[in-house]
Amino acid sequence: MDWSERLGGLCYGGDYNPEQWPEDVWKEDVELMRRAGVNLVSVGVFSWARLEPAPGVHDLGWLDRVLDLLHDGGIRVNLATPTASPPPWFGLAHPDALTVTHDGTRLTHGSRDTYCVHSPAYLAACAGIARTLAERYRDHPALAMWHVHNEYGTTCHCDHAADAFRTWLRARHGTLEALNDAWTTSFWSQHYSAWEQITTPRATQYLPNPSQALDFRRFVSDAMLDHFREQKAVLRELTPDIPITTNFVLGDWVPVNHRHWAAEVDLVAIDHYPSTDPPAETAFAADLARGWATGKPWLLMEQAVVTYTGPRMRAKHPGEITRLSLSHIARGSRGAMFFQWRASRGGAELWHGGMVPHAGPDSRIFREICDLGALLPTLEDACAAPVEAGAAILWDAEANWALQAPGLPSTELNYTEAVRQAHRVLYRHGVTADVVHPSADLSAYPLVLVPSLYLISDADADNLRRYVSGGGTLVVSYLSGIADEHARVRLGGYPGALRDLLGIRVEEFHPLPPDVALTLSAPDVLAPRSTSPRAEIPARPPTDEATFSDETTFPGDRPETGTFWSEHVHLEGAEALAVYTGPHTLATPLSGQPAITRHPYGSGTALYISTRLTDDAYARLLGLSPTPVELVRRGDWLFAINHGDEEHEPGDLLLPPGGFAVRPHVERE
Ligand code: GLA
Repeated sequence: MDWSERLGGLCYGGDYNPEQWPEDVWKEDVELMRRAGVNLVSVGVFSWARLEPAPGVHDLGWLDRVLDLLHDGGIRVNLATPTASPPPWFGLAHPDALTVTHDGTRLTHGSRDTYCVHSPAYLAACAGIARTLAERYRDHPALAMWHVHNEYGTTCHCDHAADAFRTWLRARHGTLEALNDAWTTSFWSQHYSAWEQITTPRATQYLPNPSQALDFRRFVSDAMLDHFREQKAVLRELTPDIPITTNFVLGDWVPVNHRHWAAEVDLVAIDHYPSTDPPAETAFAADLARGWATGKPWLLMEQAVVTYTGPRMRAKHPGEITRLSLSHIARGSRGAMFFQWRASRGGAELWHGGMVPHAGPDSRIFREICDLGALLPTLEDACAAPVEAGAAILWDAEANWALQAPGLPSTELNYTEAVRQAHRVLYRHGVTADVVHPSADLSAYPLVLVPSLYLISDADADNLRRYVSGGGTLVVSYLSGIADEHARVRLGGYPGALRDLLGIRVEEFHPLPPDVALTLSAPDVLAPRSTSPRAEIPARPPTDEATFSDETTFPGDRPETGTFWSEHVHLEGAEALAVYTGPHTLATPLSGQPAITRHPYGSGTALYISTRLTDDAYARLLGLSPTPVELVRRGDWLFAINHGDEEHEPGDLLLPPGGFAVRPHVERE
C-alpha cells in the first residue's frame, strides 16, 4: 500500500510544540499556519512530562484542545509518541532505564534521549504511553499519521544491553565457535569460552575488536527497531488505517541501518540539516532517502530555517529555504517540514529557529514560509512521475561502520566523504543518482559508482559481477572489496572480493600525507567530454593498446593528481587508463604503476581508481560536463534550481540568481 496517498497532497508544516506556550498563543498559531498554507504538524514529540506529570497520572485535556483547534483550522496532525524524552520522575523511579555510556557512566535526566531500549521498565512505559495516546485519539479527525519517538540513536552499555547483545549474538552466530572465528578472537587472547563472558564493547585498555564493534552497531540498530516495532504494533492495532513513521537522523554516529528500517515504516521520513554546502548536501540526503524508500515517496520531516556551520549559525539566504525545499521535493519528498513551527524562547534549542522566528510573523523568514506554502500546491502534477536517475551510487551503512574502526591504515579514511564526492561529481554535472545498497537491482543503470566500499559480502560482490557482465559500467574506487561481512580482510591481494571483476591485484596500500600529491598521466583514451548532462562512458577504449609517457595527461589541459591514498596495482586482465608518474622518491615508489584501470567483463566494463581524484578529474574520467544549475527530471516535468549568484540559461530557461523553474520538460540541445 502507498501510505503516502493517505496524506493527500504535499505536506507542509513542522514540529509544533504547543506545550512550550501559553494557551492564548495557540489560536494565533493556527491562524498563522493557515496564512502560511501549513497542512500538517508534528505534535507532542517531547511532551511526555506534560502528558503524564506523575506515574500513571495522565493529563490529556490540553492535547485534546490543541488537536481540536488544529482540526478546526483544517490542519492535520502527525501525532508523536513522546518516548525520546522520558520525564525526570521516570529516570528517578527506574535508574536502570537511564543510558550507560561505554565507559560505564550512568547518565542522569536533564536533557533528552536518556533512555535504554533494553530496559524492561522503559519498554513497558513506552508501550503504555503509546496505547494511552492511540486510545484517546484513534477517532480524532485530525489524526493523519503517527510519529514514533524521535531520531532513534541512543546507544547503551548497561547490563540489560549486554544481555540483549548476547541473545542477538547467539541468533546471529549460532555457536561460540562461529563467533570466535568471526571475531578472530585468537588474536590478543580474546577467545570466549562461555556466552556470559561477552559484553558490549565497553571501554577497554587499547584497540577494541573491530568485528565485535561492527556486530554491536548491527545489534543496536536491530534493538532500536524492535522498540519501534513494539510501538507500531500498539498503534496499528488501535488505528489500522493511519500511517506510522519515525524520523531518520543522518550522520556517521547514527547506529541505525536505515535500509532495514525503511521496510518497517509506512513512509520513510528524514531530518536534514546541511552545513557547509547545503545544495549538494541536500541532493545527497534526498537521494539517500529515495534509495531507502526504494523509489517510493518519502518525506522531509525536519529542516531548519537557519544553517549551523561549525562554530556559528547563519541565517538562510533569501530564497534558500524555498530552493532547498524544492530540491527535496524534486527528488521525491512528499513535502517540506521544519523543526519547528515557532522558535522557542528558552530551553536547549532556543537558537534553532522556527517558521515563526523570534521576530514574529513580520519577518523575512515568515514571509518566505508563506510564499513556499503557496507554491507547494502548484507542484502536484510535477511530482506525479518517479524521479529519473542516470546513475547509481552504492552506499552501505555496515561498510561505513566497518571503516570507522580504529587501527585502519589511515585515521583519515572517511567513507561518507568518499560517497559524497561521487555524488557531488554527478550532481554538479546534472546526473541525478539513486543512492542504493550493493544488493539492489542495478540492471537499469548505465553507470554505477562504488566509492570506497571497504566491506562487501560475497552475495553483493556477485551482484556487481552480474551487473557488469550484463553490460553495465562500474566505477570502483580505492579501498573497496577489502573486508568480508565480519570485517576480516580477504586474502590474496586487494580488492579481495572484486579482483576478478576489476582484472587487477593490489599488493600494497600507500596512504599519502596531506602535503603529498602524486601526478597521474594518461593516454588519450578516456571518454570524450560530453555535452549531455547524462553520463556517457565509453564501453571500451578507442585503441586496444594504451601507451603512456610522462607527458601524456588526462584529456584536460594539465596533469591530474592523486591525493590522500595510493595503491600498488598489478594488471591481471585490465589495462591502465592512467599511471602514477611522480614524484620519483623513495617515499612515493609507485611511478609507472597503474593508477586507473579498465577491465572488460562480460558485456560491460569495470573501472578502478586507486587514489582520490579531484572532483574535476573524476568528472573528466566519466566524460561529464558541468551543469551550473540543479536539474531533476520527473516524467514530463523538469525541476531547475539555480543555487548560485549568477544568471544561467539551461536550455530555453532563464534562471536569475537564486531562481527556479518547475515546468513541463524542455528538450536539451
Ligand atoms: C533534530 C531533532 C529536533 C531538534 C532539531 C534541532 O532534528 O529531531 O528535535 O533537536 O534536530 O535542529
